[in-house]
Amino acid sequence: MAFMTKYLLPILVVSLAYYYYSANEEFRPEMLQGKKVIVTGASKGIGREMAYHLAKMGAHVAVTARSEEGLQKVVSRCLELGAASAHYIAGTMENLTFAEQFVTKAGELMGGLDMLILNHITNSPLVFFHNDTHIVRKTMEVNFLSYVVLSVAALPMLKQSNGSIVVISSLAETAMQATSGIFIAEAAPKEDCALEIIKGAALRKEEVYYDKSIWTSLLLGNPGRRIMEFLALRKYNFDKFINN
Ligand SMILES: NC(=O)c1ccc[n+]([C@@H]2O[C@H](COP(=O)([O-])OP(=O)(O)OC[C@H]3O[C@@H](n4cnc5c(N)ncnc54)[C@H](OP(=O)(O)O)[C@@H]3O)[C@@H](O)[C@H]2O)c1
Ligand SMILES: *[C@@H]1O[C@H](CO)[C@@H](O)[C@H](O)[C@H]1NC(C)=O
Ligand SMILES: *[C@@H]1O[C@H](CO)[C@@H](O)[C@H](O)[C@H]1NC(C)=O
Ligand SMILES: *[C@@H]1O[C@H](CO)[C@@H](O)[C@H](O)[C@H]1NC(C)=O
Repeated sequence: MAFMTKYLLPILVVSLAYYYYSANEEFRPEMLQGKKVIVTGASKGIGREMAYHLAKMGAHVAVTARSEEGLQKVVSRCLELGAASAHYIAGTMENLTFAEQFVTKAGELMGGLDMLILNHITNSPLVFFHNDTHIVRKTMEVNFLSYVVLSVAALPMLKQSNGSIVVISSLAETAMQATSGIFIAEAAPKEDCALEIIKGAALRKEEVYYDKSIWTSLLLGNPGRRIMEFLALRKYNFDKFINN
């Protein structure tokens, strides 16, 4: 029995996980046609590229960031590229009231919501920590708390549409420039990267890794973690959790 749980079960889990993840359907751009999508941090970088891909696929897009000028350009380009509709609302994610109201307004503008793409991130300096807790707090507010607020605000609409939430974490071009000389690595092309994210989102993939090195997905998607997750989650009574 000990042998069973120690070795056979993990092997079974990995095989099932492999089967489950490889049995995905093919991506088709029509999957995004007419879909109502929010992209945050879309005034530049990966966010902007995702908005352009979505526009080409005929989606409705609502973008946000602080720079109104940047957003205006993104919206007009989206319309040129074939977006079903394109809107922007400028504001800072440091303001959680703004975050909440943005989702409501975007939902009203598009008449619902199918996908919430959380991509904005504040520039945090790559320096040693010197007792500056307020910087940590601000970073947590913009990079984490606002994600929670946006998700909670979007949930009623996403439940109605059976929609999805996409969270981005990357080391693409801008990040490379910001940290240039400190973190040494080649930037991934953000156009391709943005497309891979959209494809993964449309197929409802749990995780998508984009990198030239095959080691990235192998190491980040490590089976050990998946097995641990599987085993840990078995200890929870989800029916009770949901009914509570
Ligand atoms: N930059 C880094 O050092 C770094 C490091 C690791 C990972 N990443 C990842 O990179 C992803 C985005 O990458 P990227 O290369 O496309 O970054 P980027 O070009 O710097 O884009 C960040 C976006 O977020 C917006 N933004 C910044 N601060 C904001 C605020 N306070 N409120 C609302 N919007 C704000 C920016 O627009 P405005 O300036 O107009 O507001 C911009 O549209 C993030 O999801 C992150 O996980 C970045
Ligand atoms: C935060 O955003 C809300 C809604 O957009 C706005 O009414 C309020 O004035 C903002 N607060 C600050 C401190 O800017
Ligand atoms: C850290 O900052 C706080 C508030 O400014 C200060 O009271 C505290 O003494 C500082 N601690 C250290 C170790 O510098
Ligand atoms: C919602 O999406 C999931 C995952 O694609 C699917 O299994 C489920 O049947 C969908 N539910 C409805 C009501 O469309």
